[in-house]
Amino acid sequence: MRVTDTSDLWWKTAVFYNLDVETYLDWNDDGVGDLEGLAHRLDHLAELGVTCLWLAPFYPSPQRDNGYDISDYYGVDPRYGHLGDFVEVVRTARDRGMRVIVDLVVNHTSDQHPWFRAARSSPDSRFREFYQWRDDVPADQPANMFPDVEDGVWSYDDEAGQYYRHSFYSHQPDLATDRQAVRDEIAKVIGFWLQLGIDGFRVDAVPHLIATDDGAEHEFLQALRGYVSRRSGGGMMLGEVNLPYDEMVPFFGADDGDELTMQFDFVANQALYLALARQDAGPLRAALAARPALARGNQWGNFVRNHDELTLDQLSDDERDEVFEAFAPLESQRIHGRGIVRRLPPMLDGDPRRIRMVYSLMFSTPGAPVLFYGEEIGMGENPAVRGRGAVRTPMQWTDEAGGGFSRAPADDLTAPLAVEGWAPEHVNVSRQRHETDSLLRFVQGLARHYRASPEIGWGELTLLESGHDCVLAHAVSSSTGTLVAVHNFAPDGRSVDLDLAPLGLDLGDGVRLTDLLGERTSPDEASAAGRHRVELEGYGHRWLRVLRPDEKRLV
Ligand code: NOJ
Repeated sequence: MRVTDTSDLWWKTAVFYNLDVETYLDWNDDGVGDLEGLAHRLDHLAELGVTCLWLAPFYPSPQRDNGYDISDYYGVDPRYGHLGDFVEVVRTARDRGMRVIVDLVVNHTSDQHPWFRAARSSPDSRFREFYQWRDDVPADQPANMFPDVEDGVWSYDDEAGQYYRHSFYSHQPDLATDRQAVRDEIAKVIGFWLQLGIDGFRVDAVPHLIATDDGAEHEFLQALRGYVSRRSGGGMMLGEVNLPYDEMVPFFGADDGDELTMQFDFVANQALYLALARQDAGPLRAALAARPALARGNQWGNFVRNHDELTLDQLSDDERDEVFEAFAPLESQRIHGRGIVRRLPPMLDGDPRRIRMVYSLMFSTPGAPVLFYGEEIGMGENPAVRGRGAVRTPMQWTDEAGGGFSRAPADDLTAPLAVEGWAPEHVNVSRQRHETDSLLRFVQGLARHYRASPEIGWGELTLLESGHDCVLAHAVSSSTGTLVAVHNFAPDGRSVDLDLAPLGLDLGDGVRLTDLLGERTSPDEASAAGRHRVELEGYGHRWLRVLRPDEKRLV
């Protein structure tokens, strides 16, 4: 690769940041976040080092699934502003060096969408075929994605006189995406938002959107991606596909990665939590070793937490119990029998060394990092909010009442703020801006080093021997250079004798290693034997740049 490739395939080295306009900043003080508020905080995001915003659904919606129940694909929920405000945000973000992607939720609509209203009203409606209908419930119906809320995926609609399919809540009827008429409408939705200046989509629930066992369905995804690329040269699709690696691969596209551009790495995410619970890097190491190779244009999205439960569905029952015991001892902290409704810092008892180690890992793992709003300051959840809403509390800007999110009375806030040790009084952006050693400054540093190290997004991964089960040592190498990262999952320090031989460097011949995150400026010589000693503190982390004698990189 050439360093200039990073601007073409921009997503491979982007720093993504997901936020919900509703909980970010309330500019008119009505208790609900809005686009004008977001526009005023784009500078915070640019300063943090974010290069691509992922906006959670902001479309008109009855809000029975946090906006993932859409009743109009072409609008903005009036509580947040209007399309003009949206365009202003996109334009201002671009001025600050940030692209914008939006959620594409087309597996289902809200039952209040005009298509479903028309469909249920008459079998003769031209929208009837937009959804999936049956006269009876099949004997072997698949489990619903929310098994503790919904009995199955077929519900009876009195008005329609038939059963309709819904993979998620019963108020979210599944679209019949095998119908050309539906596909044409989806393409129009995509075309509309691209025309407004966005750079792509986070695609919701992809394995539900297309049947996994049907090659013809992949033609649909391929066609959508082709359409995105024709309408916008740099347009991309980041898909939600929570499946084992071998089942994720087809969603990148068999033909040189021409379906989803990126996928979240749910496998490594779940392995990360098992590794944390065990204080043993093994599970994560195994996951990374098992990662399939990607086509040049594809990428992994690395994340620590998102707006949903921390799903552990790919772990065995025993492994899941280990993670539950370590990080969600209370039943109220668990959901759907598979996940945890907490943010990372409270799970780690607020231990700053451990929290930093995790984000250092996220930024140094091959792929592109995806932050969830508030992670940059270590926000916690509000355990009094039931279910997934616990992690969707308003952004904490200041220590004022309302956390600087809104000046509306507490009762009018769209969601309650975090409380006790995690309240805005203790955790807020404003305070951390003034502290040189804050988590905010630390994450900002990670983003800066990530952006200056394109080998993380583009390079080959080499897992190195560290000599300790608790220490993950890995290297990423591309023609731009090599970066070595070391992470300690245990609470006590370790002397790590890194074996750099697999990197094939001419060690001892003037090759040096320099500490990137620390304050040390003088590079250490790598020993001739190809080994390098690194002293790691408990939950310590280190990024080392390999400097060849003819190196021109600025360190
Ligand atoms: C996935 C989204 O991330 C989640 O929040 C939502 O509930 C489901 N899709 C259904 O839309």
